Amino acid sequence: MLAGLAVLVGARGSAASEPEVAPRSLKQLAAAKGMRMGSSFAWGAQGADRGSFANPAYAALLMRDCSLLVAENEMKWQALRPSATQFDFARFDAMMAWADANALPVRGHNLLWHQPKWMPRWEETHDFGATPARAAERLLVDHVSTVCGRYGSRIRSYDVVNEAVDPKDASLYQTALSRAMGSPEATLDLAFRTARRAAPQAQLVYNDYMSWEPGNATHRAGVLKLLEGFKTRGVPVDALGVQSHLVTQGIDARATIAELEGEWRRFLDEVTAMGYGLVITELDVRDNSLPADVAVRDRAVADFTRGYLDVMLAYPQLRDVLLWGMTDRYSWIEGFEPRKDKPRRRPCPYDAAFKPKPMYTAIAAALAAAPHRA
Ligand code: G3I
Repeated sequence: MLAGLAVLVGARGSAASEPEVAPRSLKQLAAAKGMRMGSSFAWGAQGADRGSFANPAYAALLMRDCSLLVAENEMKWQALRPSATQFDFARFDAMMAWADANALPVRGHNLLWHQPKWMPRWEETHDFGATPARAAERLLVDHVSTVCGRYGSRIRSYDVVNEAVDPKDASLYQTALSRAMGSPEATLDLAFRTARRAAPQAQLVYNDYMSWEPGNATHRAGVLKLLEGFKTRGVPVDALGVQSHLVTQGIDARATIAELEGEWRRFLDEVTAMGYGLVITELDVRDNSLPADVAVRDRAVADFTRGYLDVMLAYPQLRDVLLWGMTDRYSWIEGFEPRKDKPRRRPCPYDAAFKPKPMYTAIAAALAAAPHRA
């Protein structure tokens, strides 16, 4: 499966006198800069064709390139909480066991995806009784403490709150929990304060998808307001998770980047000036506004990725970069947003046949060029 990799990054030793040099993986390139490279992964039945640890082909990519993992879905309320009184840890436990066996640390994603659409149906219709604020607080504290308590120091970074800001108007979403508690702020603050108590060793992250493309200004403003509010209220939040679901803007990535980077840097400067760290939590690229031709698309995606990472990696506050999947084969984008003209999406560093793409080389080059972290 990995034969293509040798062609891509290991072909330099073709002269007889020059020995074949083992190509450096993304995790090795990251480690050389004091960073970690990671990816999402999934649960799957043994040998199933999924982006899972139990798929040997996918596991090989994780072990080759990753020094950090995150469960794509299995730690979410929808996966862990069949009801208000039950937890089901079977799938996530199996993923943790595999990661532990391979000495791969895991990030926690997530303790509260604060949107009604992504909470379990039972939670949105839950009867919180005569003292709703107290009952909702109990439910949230129980969830966060139980999850954090179960994994203890095995998980050292959590997306405590995910996507709480409505990009349409920068307001905070309401769920049944926040309505019962009186406000979204009270709900998010409680999630972070509880996580700090239950996982004192962990980095606590607010994770969202505000990005650098046009149309994200309101979302960025909402996230900045939320981060300022956390500071004012003394809420223990350590870093902003910049999901990085990028969207190409056309073939000429260089021109696009020149247009986008000023505003984006101003946003990152404001975030870091408040004292927050940065994590790239879910990197992938939607090949919008690009022709169907694979070579053209791959080139533009790679150039866009490189330009983005060059900006991001210039921030010493950024130490961890995670992909939202290693291969196009299992990417969520194909299911959620297929191309209207039909050809398969190509958002990840490996293609659907597990061959590395120009995006892989672009990430490797960006890591190689990144300043060293102390
Ligand atoms: O598990 C069920 C399965 O039993 C059923 O047969 C199947 C039928 O559709 O659905 C399965 O659940 C799906 C799940 O992915 C696992 O494949 C859900 O319907 C589907 O909604 C879910 O989508 C995930 C989505 O988050 C919502 O949780 C995507 O895989 C996942 O990539 C996506 O990840 C999010 C991050 O958590 C937050 N940031 C954005 C990112 C991309 O949307």
